[in-house]
Amino acid sequence: MSERDIAGQPLSQAHARTEAPVQKPETADDDGPIILGIESTCDETAAGIVRGRTLLANVVASSMDQHARFGGVIPEIASRAHAEAFVPVVSRALEDADLDLSQIDAIAVSAGPGLAGCLAVGVSGAKALALAANKPIYGINHVIGHIAVTQLQFGGFPDGTLALIVSGGHTSLLRVHDIARSVEVVGTTLDDAAGECFDKVARLLGFPYPGGPHIDRHARSGDPHALQVPRALTKGNAGRRHPYDFSFSGVKTAVARWVEERKAEGKDVPVDDVCASLADAVADVLSGKAMKACENLGADTLIVGGGFSANSQLRHALLERGRRHGVEVRLPRRQLCTDNGAMVAMLGSNLLEAGMPPSPESFSIDSAMPLDQIYMA
Ligand code: KG4
Ligand code: ZN
Repeated sequence: MSERDIAGQPLSQAHARTEAPVQKPETADDDGPIILGIESTCDETAAGIVRGRTLLANVVASSMDQHARFGGVIPEIASRAHAEAFVPVVSRALEDADLDLSQIDAIAVSAGPGLAGCLAVGVSGAKALALAANKPIYGINHVIGHIAVTQLQFGGFPDGTLALIVSGGHTSLLRVHDIARSVEVVGTTLDDAAGECFDKVARLLGFPYPGGPHIDRHARSGDPHALQVPRALTKGNAGRRHPYDFSFSGVKTAVARWVEERKAEGKDVPVDDVCASLADAVADVLSGKAMKACENLGADTLIVGGGFSANSQLRHALLERGRRHGVEVRLPRRQLCTDNGAMVAMLGSNLLEAGMPPSPESFSIDSAMPLDQIYMA
């Protein structure tokens, strides 16, 4: 984490982290196009630069500290923070990559899904840069960016690759036919996302927002069998009807009831055990369904992406099950799990290399962008 204050504010208001460019993977492509990626879907203002599949810069400023006391992201506050951080973050990324805007081949920006006001700041800023520097621009799907980013570590996607996207807003299984042209939704959550479910239980236990990382930490020292957490849509008719779909809305209610009963009996609430039981159940359902999909759909590579893919219990369960099923599980490094600009740049690089036409000048944002829409064509 850098101590430098890139947003011109105290670090208590805008946490800035910059990351040293990673070591080149085997697949590094020094001659690929140079893409600037800009991300502003939620509380992170981020800019990343890639050349082909090599990461040149990755700068993230977060307004999370300003939301924590409200127990969730406040869109107005997040939008204002994006307006403040946009130019410092982009400038810092160009500086880190030792490039100026004229040397960039294209700009990519998250156009959805996300918070409308936040998306509008990033898309407007990116359009202004594209106009000023006369560069093509791609308004990309943030969720597909979470899949694309794994290429920085592992290279391209083998045929029939499946992706498990787990973030604050999404829990979905997707089939990657061609990252620039065709992604198909195989399954999705019928209600809450896994991250959302963790954040809700965390709130119940008194952890600050976002609660996911707190549950992760406490789960490490708890008993995963202390309480029974529902594993919805895994058995019987519902499981057969929804083999690749998820449902986590019952989890919070079950945990809340258990906690209330303990309190009513005058007993302490064993926080570590609650976290461990929750984390174990969610990791079990996610990894079990992902492996079933790989087996049934003939995929031997599973991409994992989104903020929740930083979760230790899920990472462990996926790697362990992957080994047993002969599936290569590609987990991003933790800095690339949560929202960043490198993921946006990487998908932009795929689109440019595939010869896809840039987004039209007048492209809009779409806060509910469908998961199978790769970019604003
Ligand atoms: O992808 P992301 O950064 O933002 C969205 O697009 O939603 O994901 C944020 C989510 C939050 O729900 C947060 O609690 C969760 O990812 N998260 C975690 C962990 N790190 C982040 N959940 C569980 N364990 C973690 N280590
Ligand atoms: Zn995300």
